[in-house]
Order: sequence, then C-alpha cells, then structure tokens
Amino acid sequence: MSDKTVLVTRLIPEIGVRLLQKAGLRVRMNQQARQYREDELAEAVRDVDAVVCQLADRFRAQVLESAAPRCKVIATCAVGYDNIDVAAAAKLGIHVTNTPDVLTNATADLTWALLLATARRLGEAERFVRAGAWRGWGMLQYLGADVYGRTLGIIGAGRIGTAVARRAAGFDMPILYHARHDNAAMNDLGAKRVGLPVLLAQSDFISLHVPLTPETRRMLDAEAFGRIKKGAILINTARGAVLDQAELINALRTGRLAAAGLDVYDGEPSIPKELLELDNVVALPHIGSATVTTRNRMAEMAAQNVIAVLKGEPPLNPVLPPSAD
Ligand code: GLV
Repeated sequence: MSDKTVLVTRLIPEIGVRLLQKAGLRVRMNQQARQYREDELAEAVRDVDAVVCQLADRFRAQVLESAAPRCKVIATCAVGYDNIDVAAAAKLGIHVTNTPDVLTNATADLTWALLLATARRLGEAERFVRAGAWRGWGMLQYLGADVYGRTLGIIGAGRIGTAVARRAAGFDMPILYHARHDNAAMNDLGAKRVGLPVLLAQSDFISLHVPLTPETRRMLDAEAFGRIKKGAILINTARGAVLDQAELINALRTGRLAAAGLDVYDGEPSIPKELLELDNVVALPHIGSATVTTRNRMAEMAAQNVIAVLKGEPPLNPVLPPSAD
C-alpha cells in the first residue's frame, strides 16, 4: 500500500500513526496545534486515499466532494459523527467509520465525575481554596445536594447511557430513562422507561446521552426546561446542541436548575460568557474520552478501519446516515 496516503487532520496518539505506517501507508499529519479551517480541510483532503479525523473537523458535502473520488474512507476518532454528512459521503462512495465501545467507560466515568462535582459544588469549593479564602471549617460552607438515593434520569439508552446507569447502583439511585426503544440492559438494572416529560419532572439528576441528529437537536427546548423539577442538576457529556443553550443559562439563573455539569457546548470551543460567569456550572473542555488508554484505543481503531478499507475489505466500524440508524 506504499502508494497510498492517509491524511491525519490533527495530532493523534503515536500508536495509530505507527499502525498506519506499518501497513505501508504514507501518513501526512497536520502538525499545527489547531484544527484545519474548512477551506484548509477541503484542500488537504484533495489528494489522499483516506482521512483520520476528529470530531471538530466538519465534513460537509463540499469538503467530501473535494475528497472524492480518490478518498475511500473517513475514520473519525470519536463515537459521535454529527460533524460528517454521512449521506453525502455514501453517495460519493466514501466509507465513514467511528470508534464505538472503547470510549464508553471513560465517558461514563466522566459523566459521574461531573455529577458528583456539581452535586457537591467542587468547582466553587476548589476556587475558594485556591483563592486563599478559606479561614477554617464551617458548618454552612459549600452545602450541596445528596446523590445517594436520589433519582437519576438518563436521556438516551445507548452504550454510554447504560454504562452511566450501571454505575448508579453504587449510589442506590432509582433510574428513569427515555429512549426510542425499550432497552433490556436498562430494564435489567431496574431502570424504568418513561416519556421525556415524566423524566424531566421526576429526576433529581438528568444526564444526556443521545447522539446529535435532526431529531435530537434542541430536544431540551424552552418547553422541556419548563418541565424540569425545580432544583435538579443537568449533566451533558453528549453534544451541546442537544439543548437550547440560552434556555440552559436561563434555567441556571432562575434556580430551575441547581447546577449543570458540562463537557460539551453548542458552537464549541466558544462558550457563552454567561455560562462561565455562573458559579453553579462545572465546565470542562470536551474530555469525556480523554484517558491515555482510551485515546490510544481510539487512534488504533481509526487506523484499523483505514487499513481494512484500503485493503479492499469492509470497514470494521461503519456508520450509517442517522435516519437509517
Ligand atoms: C466524543 O464526544 C465522541 O463522540 O467520541
């Protein structure tokens, strides 16, 4: 395969690059500490046989057209692929692959980190200590919310939602979930499938685990925020655009939500300053899958998908257009 070139749109763990090279592929990697702009991406994909990309690279039809007909596969190092027009890729004969499963546990762990951090106000308390403001133990300092025994509402019962539910057993939490279909693993955990309005009205913690699709975009809109139980805590490790960010800010200001733990934002990496000014927000820079082993596995998987397709084999982790999912 020495005549074939793979574009890697941004630095990835070495293990992925080595795998591609070992298969005899030429690797062209963007060495800049920033992602390509869309026009740069369209240019960079013009003369390559495959692309290993990341979730911030936008592959709209125009960029895909510039990659075709030479490019045979776009392997994203992520489980979510809302950044890629999969239907347009399919029409152009370009496979799209993702990295499911390997990041499930890391992302579920981070969801719980946010849940506990928001409930117990870790961000605020840590800022207080670092500011040198602590003058001694106080009975009324940083009182948070109980987690143990409270109701967890999970929106989206895929791999990550289910892994989040599994962890709730240790906290003895009743679980509600909202999903298009009944989920046997969720049911086995004792979780109860309910409609979205019921979940919003009854959950003390609400955690989002749906992919971003035309159906789920802004699924938490003004009406949905109005249904949320007063004083609930919202966690989002899915995609920012699943909720209406202006309504989120409003709900945090009015106390409808006691707090929010966010790893993702609509329009990231830009984050509205109104969100960052709120002390009851724990804000992270989209690090759900960011553990050393997980990121290594993701790079490895993306490389394996590229190698399979360029060898003329079917991709290992193909994704379908959202409507066919
Ligand atoms: C991260 O957000 C992913 O989709 O893998």
